[in-house]
Amino acid sequence: MATILLLSGPNLNLLGTREPHIYGSDTLDDCVGDARAAAEAHGHALEHVQSNHEGDLVEAIQGARDRCAAIVINPGAYTHSSYAIADALAAYSGVKVELHLSNPASREEWRRTSVVAAYVTGTVAGFGRAGYRLAVEAAAARLGDA
Ligand code: DQA
Repeated sequence: MATILLLSGPNLNLLGTREPHIYGSDTLDDCVGDARAAAEAHGHALEHVQSNHEGDLVEAIQGARDRCAAIVINPGAYTHSSYAIADALAAYSGVKVELHLSNPASREEWRRTSVVAAYVTGTVAGFGRAGYRLAVEAAAARLGDA
């Protein structure tokens, strides 16, 4: 059994009421519940951390080294700006899945660059709440048990 760390960046705590036409009306708890169910279906545990602060996310990634087999991260807007999170991911050698509810590549110009994309195993984007299950299944597949 492995531990998968799910990280949620800024403003994701507002899911359910935040621009529901883009992000849907399900809450972060709903999404985390789906991710946890998917992890447990593969015999893994899931930990979740949400923070609106860049340093908290960096520390959570550092804390996953040698402890968690995979990280699924929706960095929110830090996707497009945080070299600190990119560096932390580069220093983490486990499986890494970048996750987005929306498809940033089809939105505003500034969302079309991900500074973390070069440091992840792969990306799940554009599938809304279902992406949480898909991202965990992708991580589990890479861990060799799906
Ligand atoms: C997001 C996309 C980002 O551009 C945005 O800043 C978010 C959410 C998504 O899940 O679609 O906060 O990561």
